[in-house]
Amino acid sequence: MKVALITGITGQDGSYLAEFLLAKAYTVHGLVRRASTFHTDRIDHLYQDPHDSKARLFLHYGDLADSGQLTNLFYEVKPDEVYHLGAQSHVRVSFDMPDYTGDVTGLGTVRLLEAIRKSGVRCRLYQASSSEMFGAAPAPQSETTPFQPRSPYAAAKVYAHWMVRNYREGYGLFACNGILFNHESPRRGETFVTRKITRAVAAIKAGRQQTLYLGNLDARRDWGYAPEYVELMWRMLQMTAPQDFVFGTGETHSVREFVEAAFGYAGLDWREHVKLDQRYLRPTEVELLKADPSNVKRQLGWEAHVRFADLVRIMVDAELETAGLPAPGEGKRAFDAGRFGWLRRP
Ligand code: NAP
Ligand code: GDD
Repeated sequence: MKVALITGITGQDGSYLAEFLLAKAYTVHGLVRRASTFHTDRIDHLYQDPHDSKARLFLHYGDLADSGQLTNLFYEVKPDEVYHLGAQSHVRVSFDMPDYTGDVTGLGTVRLLEAIRKSGVRCRLYQASSSEMFGAAPAPQSETTPFQPRSPYAAAKVYAHWMVRNYREGYGLFACNGILFNHESPRRGETFVTRKITRAVAAIKAGRQQTLYLGNLDARRDWGYAPEYVELMWRMLQMTAPQDFVFGTGETHSVREFVEAAFGYAGLDWREHVKLDQRYLRPTEVELLKADPSNVKRQLGWEAHVRFADLVRIMVDAELETAGLPAPGEGKRAFDAGRFGWLRRP
């Protein structure tokens, strides 16, 4: 039975990955930030009483800003596989908190690498790199596209990315960077644009909200479905040799197209509800992200199955259901027909 350690287990990807690994009979340990309130709602459905001898999910307080506890954790848990997903992951916020973002997202990765090296635990590492690192680089972006980061978040991720490669080359660590393009789900953080839009659609339908304030509607992203992406994280660590991969759908759509699709699916006219708020504009924007996923397809046989229209439907259906409203259900059907037997909750 393998042992995995996940940083960022309370986040969107961490929660799906924990679910996926538990279904594969792993024992899963997760790093959780201490807060004065509970914030484990994404993994509450996976909770197991640690006193139960059959428990396979264990949570540990710790912080990427605290190297001592990270090193202790390696001595204690001795993981076979480490999935490093913890980060200050919001691009807009990184402009307001650049040094904090550099500390947690950039240096936090180095603290983790040092914890592995100093503890001497032999494990494989997955690092959550990001398509945001491509920044101003022309699309489509692949493993060979040079990074041109345009935010403090992206610069911190570039640092983390190269440090992971450094430890791979310098210390022989089995470490892989997954350069993921945007991936979304009903568990997406509420302030990322897709979830902000789908939540607003449900609130407007319920009569609780009239207006949705957004920033740049022209930016284009390659949006995929998060559960598919966590499966690939696991597959990367099962390879015979460590390697970095780009993954995305290969399609790109504007924020405006997402708005139109989400409002339209719920029978609303977005023009009556969406307004610009300058606060959501960024000092520097990444205008166009579109993956070239041909390498991951060739080497790992991976291809995104859930595409833009189904992703929008999955997210809007989930939001309408949560609001107690009737949902068209096409997203649910796309989801049910999918390959996600391990998922216990969308
Ligand atoms: P997310 O939902 O924002 O989750 C981030 C996780 O990091 C949360 O569990 C958060 O804990 C934790 N965290 C934040 N600061 C921490 C600290 N100081 N110490 C320990 N943990 C900390 O992000 P996600 O969407 O799941 O993304 C997972 C990873 O992939 C991130 O590294 C992100 O940058 C990267 N990524 C995401 C995408 C995407 O489209 N989703 C694409 C490319 C790369 P709290 O719950 O306490 O906040
Ligand atoms: N968040 C947000 N809120 N974004 C908005 C808004 C708004 O009100 N209005 C327009 N946007 C635009 C942003 O300017 C950006 O161009 C696009 O919507 C997507 O923004 P986010 O959903 O915040 O995601 P992101 O692309 O900046 O970053 C996400 O993807 C990266 C991978 O490329 C995050 O998950 C990062 O952690 C991840 O690395």
